[in-house]
Amino acid sequence: MITCSAPGKVYLFGEHAVVYGQSAICCAIDLRTRVQVAKHDSIIIESVLGTTGLDLEVHPYVSRVIEKMKGYEDIEGIRIQIDSELPVGSGLGSSAAVTVATIQALNQLYSCGLQLDDIANMGHAIEREVQGNASPTDTYVSTMGGVVLIPERRKLKDLDCQIVVGNTGKFSSTKELVSNVAKLRQEFPAIIDPILTNIGKMAHIAEEHVNSNDYETVGKLMNVNQGLLDSIGVGGAELSALVYAARNAGAISAKITGAGGGGCIVALTSKTNANAVAQAIKETGAEAILTRNTNEGVRLEP
Ligand code: MEV
Repeated sequence: MITCSAPGKVYLFGEHAVVYGQSAICCAIDLRTRVQVAKHDSIIIESVLGTTGLDLEVHPYVSRVIEKMKGYEDIEGIRIQIDSELPVGSGLGSSAAVTVATIQALNQLYSCGLQLDDIANMGHAIEREVQGNASPTDTYVSTMGGVVLIPERRKLKDLDCQIVVGNTGKFSSTKELVSNVAKLRQEFPAIIDPILTNIGKMAHIAEEHVNSNDYETVGKLMNVNQGLLDSIGVGGAELSALVYAARNAGAISAKITGAGGGGCIVALTSKTNANAVAQAIKETGAEAILTRNTNEGVRLEP
């Protein structure tokens, strides 16, 4: 039996724009998905979504991992148990984390010899198959950990501030939101393309400020990024309520993280103000999660 885990992530900059080749800054967080695998006489996948065999509807990511890993090893039966601190469909990278942790767990169980880059690449291929259009961001960051500029794959300095996540509890479909942005872009390329380009520019400008712990400047830019996400239609009343609750409670910054529509916001706060920001988020009726940046990507659990 093997257990592997992989972290979720928040975007400081660049969700959606990164799908079109613009830069993003994404940060692995200390909330993990654990995947336990053991040889078995049939295929069983167990998670909060239910217990199934190979099932592309209920367990699309894990089922595709099994299919891909069959190219390395003759997998006839396997029992996979998934246990996650990441809410599903919340913009915290739950699908990337489960994909990456499952690949590594099967890689270890069958000694397939996959390296971290292979895992990130296979994870990205699977996200593309499920979502239609997916950037390599979530799977790369979940594999490698840290704060990363994508597509450059450059590791930045770890964040020396607190991360507070606000969860609307409203399921958000990345596939649907990515497709909505694609339609808007097709309709108004002259308007939407510069917005996406400007989001990418913000990630580049922010890089040096992340590396110098200048969170005031990073935060100002994140708040501008939030406005641009709203303008491309991935915001919503619940998300805005959380963004303003966090900012009014003194957060350095607050913006949507991930696909939007529902899901989560991310706020950067000083270490002393994190509880006040979390409390303000809770007072809106949403869940607040205090977390921090982690440098540990996918790992074998003892
Ligand atoms: C989803 O976590 C982030 C998006 O940019 C999609 C992607 O990068 O694949 C919306």
